[in-house]
This record gives sequence, C-alpha cells and structure tokens, in this order.
Amino acid sequence: MPRIFSGIQPSGDLHIGNWLGAVQNWVALQERHECFFAIVDLHAITGQHDAATLERRTLDMAIGLLASGIDPARCTFFVQSHVPEHAELMWLLTSVTPLGELERMTQFKDKSQRTESIPAGLLAYPILMAADILLYRADQVPVGDDQLQHLELARVIARRWNAEFGGGVDFFPEPQSLLTAARRIVGLDGQAKMSKSLGNTVGILESPEEIWQKIRPAVTDPARVTKKDPGTPEVCNVYALHRHFSPPDTVSDVARKCRAAEWGCIDCKRVLAENMAAVLAPIRERAEALRADEGGVRAILADGANRARVEARRTLAEVKARMGFLPSEGPPGR
Ligand code: TYM
Repeated sequence: MPRIFSGIQPSGDLHIGNWLGAVQNWVALQERHECFFAIVDLHAITGQHDAATLERRTLDMAIGLLASGIDPARCTFFVQSHVPEHAELMWLLTSVTPLGELERMTQFKDKSQRTESIPAGLLAYPILMAADILLYRADQVPVGDDQLQHLELARVIARRWNAEFGGGVDFFPEPQSLLTAARRIVGLDGQAKMSKSLGNTVGILESPEEIWQKIRPAVTDPARVTKKDPGTPEVCNVYALHRHFSPPDTVSDVARKCRAAEWGCIDCKRVLAENMAAVLAPIRERAEALRADEGGVRAILADGANRARVEARRTLAEVKARMGFLPSEGPPGR
C-alpha cells in the first residue's frame, strides 16, 4: 500500500484553496492508503511568528481538517512539533542539501524579498519539509502546485542521502506529488494564488453572509464592464469557482448566460455564493460540534502524535545507524 504524507501550516482557518487543492484529496486518499497528515507548526515560525496565537491557530486548523473529513481512525493525524524527530531528521539532512538549491527556491526568493532581515529558517524551510516526508518514508505527497519545487528538492535530498549512506539500497523512496484538478486556485482578486497572506481567500468555515460579502467584490472577466457586454467564462475566476462548487448543469447555464450577456456578474456571483455556502454547510456544522469538545480534539492529536512517533523513531534510528552515530545506551525515546 503506498504511503502518503502531507502537511498544512496552522494559519487558522482553512481556505477553499487549501481545501480544493489538497485537503479534499487527503480525505479521499485515507480510504485506500496509509496516510500521515500533519499540522506543520514548526514551519509556521519561519514567517511572521505570532506566539500569542499559534496554539489557537493550530487547534482551529485541527478543527477545520477534522470537520472536512480527516478521520483519525483512517489516518495518522498529528501536530508536527509533537514529534521531535522531524527537527532531528532535518538537521541530519542538512548535510546532503546543496545550498544553491535552497537559494533558487521561488518561495524563498519571493518571501525573502518581502522581509528586511531574512531568518535562516526561511532558507532551510524545504529541508524540514523533506524531513517531514522522508521520516515516514512516504511514496506520495498530495499538494497544490505551489509545493512542487519543494518536492523536487525533497527528491534530490532523498537521492543524495541514499547515494551517500544507503549502502546500495534506496532507503528513502523518492516522493512523488499527487495533484488534483484544483492544483492552483486563484484568489478573489482574480490574479494571485489564493493565499491567506494576500487576503484574497474564502474560509471554509465562513457563514453564508460572510461568503457573500467576499464573493460580491470578486474580480471577474475585466472585459465585461456592463451587464450588456458578453463575457468570456474561461478568463473569469468566478466561473472557475463555479466549476468547483456548482452542479454541472448550473456551470453550463452560467457559461451560456455570460457569453450571451443574459445576466450580470452580480447575478452570477449570487448563485456561486449560495452554492458555495451549501457545499460548505455540513463542514461548518461538524466544526461547531468539534469546537464544543476541544478536549476531544486535543486527545485526537495526542493519539496521532504517539502513533506517528513509533514510525518516526524507527526511521530515525536506522538513519543514525547508517550515518555512523554511536548508538545511545539510554532508554528508548526521551
Ligand atoms: P500550505 O500550508 O501553504 O498549504 C497547504 C496545502 O494547500 C495547498 N494550497 C493550494 N492549492 C491550490 N490552490 C491554492 N491557492 C492553494 N494554497 C495552498 C498547498 O499546495 C498545500 O498542499 N510547505 C507546505 C506545508 C508542508 C508540507 C510538508 C506539504 C510542510 N511540510 C510536507 C507536503 C509535504 C505549505 O506551506 O503548505
């Protein structure tokens, strides 16, 4: 059975980009694969780190994922910092990571341009990501397309480590990406990738009214200035979202009415907001129940970390042995 790993940063609420691009795939994969899914809080300190809200954001992300259908009985679901082996393996992998490869990562280049003093963690971020995946010797990684370059580097790291320390065996599989049709959801500005840091998102737990307030000003086909101008659905992000949230006959109806200038963008948006709210309603409902039992959510995460650690310890022990470290005579674990 192929083994899957994927992670998400604890940015608070899940947005529909994460949900369509990755999380829906996680939910489907857990039925047929051995899956490890982590809330990657150690990654979250490489950006603007707010210590006062990290715990809350981590819990909210756990609630959003569980409400979306992540099932702790079908996968191992945990918080990255609860499994210290992630950070330890990362350090071991720095020795086979080429600095030049880190410096050419697009996300590093973008993010480092936006900050005055660049933390080393921003550069090292993809090594931690490789450690996340390799710690579970995962074969496949379901992600959106913004993570493909990082995954390519994870393969380089796996290959180099195998060549240097594998003793002729490919100890680490080279992890392959799994993309969905929603590999890159564009934000409500109609331009950039949907991303919390750009403020162009819709959260999956937002109320119907909040969804409408977000969708109403969303950018559509720029050539459609008035209701009478025929539009081109293919260039319109609201149409793209219809394809993910509206039934197929509504999608074709939307395209036809737009091309024939039979309705205005605002009419089209109203239908989208309604359908989006309807699709997300059951998730909101489940999230409310989970929020009322936060102790239960913490217990699920604790159990997930315990299970993840069994695997993580096993890999790390083997990695250290192959790298020639003197074995510790102390009790197992810490
Ligand atoms: P993060 O937290 O930014 O996003 C989580 C997942 O959501 C996908 N995603 C999108 N997909 C489509 N359209 C969008 N607009 C969109 N925005 C986000 C991301 O591609 C991702 O799959 N570095 C990772 C977290 C990570 C990880 C890992 C992932 C850490 N270790 C190991 C896989 C394997 C990140 O910041 O994702």
